[in-house]
Amino acid sequence: MRKKLNIGLFGFGCVGSGLYEVLERTPGFNARIGKICVKQEGKNRALAPERFTYNMWDILDDPDINVVVELIDDADSAYEIVTAALKRGKPVVSANKKMIAAHLPELLTLQKRHNVPLLYEAACCASIPVIRNLEEYYDNDLLNSIEGIINGSTNFILTRTAEQGIGYDEALRLAQERGFAESDPSLDVSGRDAANKLAILALHAFGTIIHPDEIFTVGIDRLGELEFRYAAEKGCKIRLIARASRNAEGGIICLVAPEFVRPGEWLYGVNDEFNGVITRNTFSDTQFFVGKGAGAFPTASAVLSDLSALTYDYRYEYKKAGAGRLGYVQQEIYLDVFCRHPRNAQGVAECFTEVKEQYAFAEAGFTTGSLSLSRLRELGELPGTSIVLFGINDAGKTISGVVKKELQEA
Ligand SMILES: NC(=O)c1ccc[n+]([C@@H]2O[C@H](COP(=O)([O-])OP(=O)(O)OC[C@H]3O[C@@H](n4cnc5c(N)ncnc54)[C@H](OP(=O)(O)O)[C@@H]3O)[C@@H](O)[C@H]2O)c1
Repeated sequence: MRKKLNIGLFGFGCVGSGLYEVLERTPGFNARIGKICVKQEGKNRALAPERFTYNMWDILDDPDINVVVELIDDADSAYEIVTAALKRGKPVVSANKKMIAAHLPELLTLQKRHNVPLLYEAACCASIPVIRNLEEYYDNDLLNSIEGIINGSTNFILTRTAEQGIGYDEALRLAQERGFAESDPSLDVSGRDAANKLAILALHAFGTIIHPDEIFTVGIDRLGELEFRYAAEKGCKIRLIARASRNAEGGIICLVAPEFVRPGEWLYGVNDEFNGVITRNTFSDTQFFVGKGAGAFPTASAVLSDLSALTYDYRYEYKKAGAGRLGYVQQEIYLDVFCRHPRNAQGVAECFTEVKEQYAFAEAGFTTGSLSLSRLRELGELPGTSIVLFGINDAGKTISGVVKKELQEA
């Protein structure tokens, strides 16, 4: 029989209040929210004051609360809350990708030591059920890569600025108003939020534990008019893409960066706060998931799904993280790149192995061509540069490319 859930809820912002409403509108679901812990006393709330507490121990030490749902915007406090709950044997649902990605080894250990689950489907791509699919459906060695648009705010900003002509600041303000952006939006636009999610996805896809700081990450915060004009002239869109793929040596390559997306590609039609995730597999070939990647109800729906999973004692088994897991490699992959730079920038051309185009205008110029990942790091550090990828080139030898060749030869 399914358990009745007595929820202790942390956070009553965009997602927390969204969850409250989702539960109200799902009467058949056997769960009630007991106490709600928030931060600021005296703030106007939609519920009666007696529903709230400002003391986390009111929830954590309450023996009647049998599930903790952590939906706050402070990663350090979230870690304190989640670890305290797990140590008390209380199952936890969280949406806090920053906290989870930064503490994967400790969180795995605590779940094992205290034999208690931590679920976090909402932390990656909100409404798209990607983590449980990676855990259960792709429970074998046939998954070669996972890539996609995994940050709703930046996708919203890119859609609105480039394709609808709204200014960057206005698009960011709209994303914040609609509850898509992080409380600290620099996490979104710098690409770090996508890197946090990619670290979590890499664990469930390949068993690889990577700290998000290790992932080569370029945000959308340096993109300018020239890049958007170049994209429009080529009939492309610019999207922030995160990718984790096996390489030929059996390791994992991860990166997050803006990329040109061409018409006809799966991600071309993924606009606004939608996310799109592509898996490439040896036998099933390519699969594509799309759905809302941010916002109160889409995110709360993933929390609800985790709560439902807890009623039948579901937990992540992290099967791929055991013996034989794939290690993280910063191997020399090669990429095709567009780089905008100051007109007479020094050192740009030297970073490229092969230059394809080079143009100079009144103040700025751009260079396109191929270069290695380590040279791309150097390029990104040169003052006034902005980078957009065309993609990994053939010299990159991702395993999907290698596998395809082997299959063709067979
Ligand atoms: N928004 C989305 O679309 C989305 C999507 C996926 C995942 N997430 C994740 O979901 C989490 C919540 O995001 P959100 O958009 O709902 O944030 P939010 O609207 O800013 O709300 C944050 C809530 O956390 C509470 N809070 C902050 N520090 C606290 C503490 N130490 N103790 C107790 N409560 C505390 C705040 O209390 P006060 O009300 O008193 O200020 C507020 O109610 C974040 O981890 C975010 O990354 C959000």
